[in-house]
Amino acid sequence: AQTAEALPRAPVVTVMGHVDHGKTSLLDYIRRAKVAAGEAGGITQHIGAYHVQTERGMVSFLDTPGHEAFTAMRARGAQATDIVILVVAADDGVMPQTKEAIKHAKAAGVPIVVAINKIDKPDASPDRVKQELVAEEVVPEEYGGDVPFVPVSAKTGQGIDDLLEQVLLQAEVLELKAPVDAAAKGLVIEAQLDKGRGPVATVLVQSGTLKTGDVVLAGSTYGRVRAMLDEDGRTIKSAGPSIPVEIQGLTEVPQAGDEFMVMSDERRAREIATYRAGKFRNTKLAKAQA
Ligand code: GTP
Ligand code: NA
Ligand code: MG
Repeated sequence: AQTAEALPRAPVVTVMGHVDHGKTSLLDYIRRAKVAAGEAGGITQHIGAYHVQTERGMVSFLDTPGHEAFTAMRARGAQATDIVILVVAADDGVMPQTKEAIKHAKAAGVPIVVAINKIDKPDASPDRVKQELVAEEVVPEEYGGDVPFVPVSAKTGQGIDDLLEQVLLQAEVLELKAPVDAAAKGLVIEAQLDKGRGPVATVLVQSGTLKTGDVVLAGSTYGRVRAMLDEDGRTIKSAGPSIPVEIQGLTEVPQAGDEFMVMSDERRAREIATYRAGKFRNTKLAKAQA
């Protein structure tokens, strides 16, 4: 078996919080992008995956929806991550999905950095947010806790450098590492059937390096990676640890949350996928007949 040396890797940071508290806007500011403005109804409905080069190194971000319907995506987002940025709007305070996000982060054992957003608004009340979060056992350092709180505005950019600084400090403590020169493994973040391109999956590489031409086993599907695109739609040839990438070439659409791994033997990958697909169908059949 291959035993590649583990090297430092970028942190994976999931942005969570109540609907419309400004998660996508915050990432837009960091990425100098305009995703939020183009969303139907102004509501995020899938997990966005991005990586950003900051002055102090690379950071990968997962953006999650705040709408109450998307609990499963938030749970997945917390499980795939190293650090959670909990976004709380300073004019709205702690709301149901804020509490839910805290629960997911705690269940996943992931450190939280709080971004008190919309600090530019005249009715912003960061002290109220602090008190409400203390009641949820998310305690700022100034009150003897261990959670960094950073007031920010996704509109003006105020505080966003501090926020990134706090995230990178947390990441340093975690001493994140992964092998680079090894067969890739990771998680399916999102997947769908594209009319022209067939099954496409956004995957997060967690260790090793994924390359065009690799045979991938993902849940109960498999295939040879035909093309890889980064989040801006640019073709890339390889993706190392902590990098999210969209792949084409799977024979079926995998499930979000599935683990994937690169295999050297395509026939073996097909056998395992077929076996798992059969079991999956039988389970569904058994449930339907019960
Ligand atoms: P969901 O993904 O649907 O849960 O929403 P979200 O948390 O991603 O919030 P989004 O970025 O869509 O922002 C919601 C609204 O708040 C938009 O109208 C933004 O322009 C606005 N907004 C976000 N951040 C700020 C901020 O810092 N200040 C002000 N004034 N408005 C903001
Ligand atoms: Na929104
Ligand atoms: Mg959003």
